[in-house]
Amino acid sequence: MEFREPIPGLENVPIKYTKITYIDGEKGELYYRGYNIVDLFNNSTYEETAYLLLFGKLPSPHDLEKFKEHMFEGRRTALEVIEEVSRLSTENALDRIKIGLILATKYVDSWPRFRGKQVVVDELLAVAPKILGLVHALTAYAVSLDPNIVEENLEASCAELLCKALVSDCMQKHIHILDKLLIVYADHGLSASAFAATVVASTLSSLLYALEAAISALQGPLHGGALEKVARMLEAIPLEKVEEYVSRKLAQKEKLMGFGHRVYKTYDPRAKLLKRLAAKLALNNNGLREAYLKAIALELHALKTLAAKRVYPNVDFWAATLLLIMGVRPENQLPVFVYSRTAGWLAHIIEYLENNKILRPRAIYRGPLGLKYRPLESR
Ligand code: CMC
Repeated sequence: MEFREPIPGLENVPIKYTKITYIDGEKGELYYRGYNIVDLFNNSTYEETAYLLLFGKLPSPHDLEKFKEHMFEGRRTALEVIEEVSRLSTENALDRIKIGLILATKYVDSWPRFRGKQVVVDELLAVAPKILGLVHALTAYAVSLDPNIVEENLEASCAELLCKALVSDCMQKHIHILDKLLIVYADHGLSASAFAATVVASTLSSLLYALEAAISALQGPLHGGALEKVARMLEAIPLEKVEEYVSRKLAQKEKLMGFGHRVYKTYDPRAKLLKRLAAKLALNNNGLREAYLKAIALELHALKTLAAKRVYPNVDFWAATLLLIMGVRPENQLPVFVYSRTAGWLAHIIEYLENNKILRPRAIYRGPLGLKYRPLESR
């Protein structure tokens, strides 16, 4: 059989048609279900955006109420899971969420079923809001370690639940900012994490296991792990050393965390929106303005070299800055990404399952053949 040459990083290799998210990497534009991210950022809420991603249209007031009820049901289900997770010794918030997802398979029917040759997508869409609520509750617990946080906020908005769990002095302005941040992070096409989730789902495994795989893929520093790295970098470098730091990193051919993107060859539109929010918040926040000033300096110095390569700040750069200004610790930042992106992951998994084919690529063998086995003692 003839093979084409391998394509490193599967760059520009399509695996499906999609109606979920469109990215124009040249113009720096992002659309969810046909709506420009700027429009959604200015006018929508996370709940509406999550509904839009999953169901393909903006909800009516009735749709939205039903959607929220199902999410609240998921939060209630999570209470039992949280009780179990709280008894285990865990290293960090993401481990708690992943363990919670695995334990939740006992409580949520998350395995795809067939009708004829087709996966019953309606059943998956029906359970998706409940799973979303479950992940939100697990995340709220995972970052706060407060077993009562979910019970006390069972019917709070998604941004409010997250804010109460994450921000020590959660105020209305923080809830508003988190709502915007959640909209911006809610989907981004077939990112490495969405792809990992799709691979797992394509074997007809549990949706919860697929989400667990997505989180594992997200944790690497080339993907969402960059968020924590950016936050730690901004904390560690004194403002007056930013230029020196950038020059040293680039001279050593090291990557600057929070810069660059596989698809965007211009400024990431999400980063643009978050940068504006960070500026506004920093102006009203003397104590924590430092992170913003460092981010501005870092961007300025980095772009002197990186703009020529079409490498710009990405969403994680400005999200980390914004979260730092809000007082969110670096280790609690990636859970925010999980909280939001679960909507997009679920939408992609379900869309793929509509026309499922197990994802099973090939590797081209280039090693020897016909070697003779020699027993251990004669080697
Ligand atoms: N710092 C310095 N140089 C960079 C950076 C960076 N952050 N990103 C890309 N480049 C350079 C890279 O060295 C290469 O240069 P050359 O052609 O001279 O070798 C060129 O730009 C292309 O980079 P690449 O790594 O081949 O591009 P890629 O599409 O394989 O990788 C990326 C994309 C996001 C993994 C990469 O830009 C990166 O490692 N960035 C830092 C980590 C990061 O911020 N990740 C978050 C990604 S966006 C949101 C998310 O997924 O969470």
